Amino acid sequence: MTTYNLAPEAVLLAQDAATFPADFLWGAATAAYQIEGAAAEDGRTASIWDTFSHTPGRVAGGDTGDVACDHYHRYRDDVDLMERMGLRSYRFSTSWSRVQPGGSGPLNQAGVDFYKRLLDELNGRGIEPWLTLYHWDLPQELEDAGGWPNRDTAYRFADYAAALHLALGDRVSHWTTMNEPWCSAFLGYGSGQHAPGRGEPALTIPAAHHLMLGHGLATRAIRQQSGPPASVGITLNLYAMSAASECPEDLDATRRIDGLAHRIFLDPLLLGRYPEDVIDDVRGLSDFRHVRDGDLDVISAPLDLLGINYYSRYVVAAPPAGTPMAGSGPSDWPGSENVRFVSRDVPLTGMKWEIDAPGLVEVLRRVHDEYPELPLYVTENGAAFDDVPDAEGRVDDLDRVGFLDGHLRACYQAISEGVPLRGYFAWSLLDNFEWAWGYEKRFGMVYVDYTTQRRVFKASGAWYAQVTRRNGLTA
Ligand code: NOJ
Repeated sequence: MTTYNLAPEAVLLAQDAATFPADFLWGAATAAYQIEGAAAEDGRTASIWDTFSHTPGRVAGGDTGDVACDHYHRYRDDVDLMERMGLRSYRFSTSWSRVQPGGSGPLNQAGVDFYKRLLDELNGRGIEPWLTLYHWDLPQELEDAGGWPNRDTAYRFADYAAALHLALGDRVSHWTTMNEPWCSAFLGYGSGQHAPGRGEPALTIPAAHHLMLGHGLATRAIRQQSGPPASVGITLNLYAMSAASECPEDLDATRRIDGLAHRIFLDPLLLGRYPEDVIDDVRGLSDFRHVRDGDLDVISAPLDLLGINYYSRYVVAAPPAGTPMAGSGPSDWPGSENVRFVSRDVPLTGMKWEIDAPGLVEVLRRVHDEYPELPLYVTENGAAFDDVPDAEGRVDDLDRVGFLDGHLRACYQAISEGVPLRGYFAWSLLDNFEWAWGYEKRFGMVYVDYTTQRRVFKASGAWYAQVTRRNGLTA
């Protein structure tokens, strides 16, 4: 069984220089709905995030992705930023309802052409594109037909993947099927904090299964195509996790959360089975009758790599017997009853997430130990802070520099221990639409003035440009 304790041996040598392997992939990441805007242009139809953000009360400040960073029109300028940042790679997602309006039928040439232009620009500057097929923006029509709790959505997704691969496979070789399917299932269908905002706990487990089935079917479809070989992976959000104490109740609460947040995806994808304890834990929610013969073989199709999004640590406890739930508990996660998260007096980001760089070493080590041989990439890591431009318009975000520096040292340590970590994508290239938080939270290494769409390198962007050029960190 996994141990959840903080790992004191993971103390990082913050003063040492760290030179990364010569072929380490330095990147930054974004996602379609968060940056593109042009929500109703060139044949794009609504996704669940358009509907959700236009529903009063769902997104802070009533913000929507209608314009976002206007990347659809400014993508060339944004590739300039990437070049100045010395990126070797750029991770972005395609908007399903832009390339295949409604989520089925023929592709929309205008939508496909946008991504061709973007890919040509990237390839022309020697920046390797990493394309994610699904970063949460399901076409609304497919949601109206039942969304991810409906098995048919998985087949629609595989068709979309195959068609887009046929159209773009000569321009991009790194394909990621899904980004953080946990969020789609648990926040979108379970708690309702994300689109489509259903808030129906019983839908969570079938949605999770069909997201993974869609991943497996899409992987198979891409691999069956002729043309240049593709590398295919999936990105999961993984947390460092510790029990608040060694008492059996806290350890068991931690096991439950690890099951619901991690193993419910890791085990089917990488081992071809659901963990028995998780099936047991969620028995009140799902009888797993949506799982058909052969599904797990499809889901566990061999991957070329695993993407890990790492942001923080969860410290988990059971509520003391006989007391009401206290603390900021994940009680809104379906299946997490009688579990709470413990808030500690440690540095937090603007999202109130604990800053925990050694936790990244733990996560990388754990995945490597339990699911060996798989090349790993940190496909997201970063922090929101309250960035305020000074009188000259500069943003001196030294807190973000410290965050990124610490986490890169964690990557370096993991590599030194033999973990096959091949690359790192900072989240994010530029400030963008932070889902239910709208534009209130800024994660970018480039500041975006949303009134003028002016972009300004933050101190972190300039710092990252040095890191990518030096291929590492100085003392
Ligand atoms: C993970 C998601 O993939 C990304 O879209 C989001 O903006 C970041 N986390 C920060 O919350």
